Amino acid sequence: MSDKYAVIGNPVEHSKSPQIHAEFALQTGQDMVYERLLAPLDAFEATAKRFFSEGGKGLNVTVPFKHEAWDLVDLHHGDALDAQAVNTIKSENGKLVGYNTDGIGLIADIKKNLGLEITSKRVLLMGAGGATYGVMFPLLRENAKALVVANRTLEKAQSLVQSIEKSAGATKTSLDAVPYTGLLNAKFDIVINATSAGLSGEMPPLPEGNFAPGALAYDMVYGRETPFMIFARNEGARAVDGLGMLVEQAAESFFIWRGVRPQTAAVIEKLRG
Ligand code: ATR
Repeated sequence: MSDKYAVIGNPVEHSKSPQIHAEFALQTGQDMVYERLLAPLDAFEATAKRFFSEGGKGLNVTVPFKHEAWDLVDLHHGDALDAQAVNTIKSENGKLVGYNTDGIGLIADIKKNLGLEITSKRVLLMGAGGATYGVMFPLLRENAKALVVANRTLEKAQSLVQSIEKSAGATKTSLDAVPYTGLLNAKFDIVINATSAGLSGEMPPLPEGNFAPGALAYDMVYGRETPFMIFARNEGARAVDGLGMLVEQAAESFFIWRGVRPQTAAVIEKLRG
C-alpha cells in the first residue's frame, strides 16, 4: 500500500499542497498518496492523532493549526522549536516529530528563485503572528543588516523581537519593533507581508516611500494579486506572491519525509499556469 500523507487545516479545500506533492512524487518515483484533511476547529489534535493511528506517515499543517501542532508533537526539530509553530509532522518510530519548513521555503524562494541575497540587506517584516515567527530565525541566519517588525498591535511585535533576541543571542542584524507610523522615511530592500491582511483583500497601513531602489515586495499569500503587491508596484518595487515559498517549503517537507529532494522550478511554473 502507498504511504499516506495529508495537509490538515481549516479551511483546506483551497490548498495546492496535494498537487505539489503529487508532482514531486511523480518526478522522484515515490509511492505515496497525499490528501486534504479538514479538521474541525476544535478537534485538530483528535483528527491528527487518528490520521497517524491509521498508518499516516506525515502531515503538513496549515492555518489555523500550526501552533496546536507544535503542542501536539513529541519532539521539535530545527526551526520548529523557536518558531513555536509546526508545519510538517513526521511519524518516526512511533513518535511524532515536528518541523517548520516555512522559513527555509521563504529563503529558498528569495535566493534561488528570485536571485536576491539577504545578507547585508534591510528587511521589513509586516505582522507579528505565526507567519512572522515561522520565518524570523531563518531570516536572521542570513545576516541581514536590519530586521524590522512592524505591527498594528505594537506589543505583539515587541514581544516577538524580545523572544527572538533572547533565543538568538548576539547577531549581526539589528532588530527592531515599530508601529507602522514609525516607518516614515525608512528605506528597505526587502519588504515581506506576513500579515493575514491580503486574505481579506486588505493591506497593512504601510506608509508610502519605504522601498529602496530595486526593492523586493514579498507577499506570503499566494494565488492572488494582493493590495500590498499593487501598492508596492506603484511604489516602483518588484512585487511577488508566496507561491514560490509554498513550493519550496513543500520540497523541504518532502525531503524530510522521503529523503529525496525534488526539483521545484518546473512545479512553480506549472502552478502559475
Ligand atoms: P498568522 O498565524 O497567519 O500570522 P495571526 O497570528 O492571526 O495569523 O496574525 C495575523 C497578523 O496579521 C497579525 O500581526 C495582525 O496584526 P495585529 O496583531 O495587529 O492584529 C496582522 N493583520 C491582520 N490583518 C491586518 C490588517 N488589515 N492590517 C495590518 N495587519 C493586519
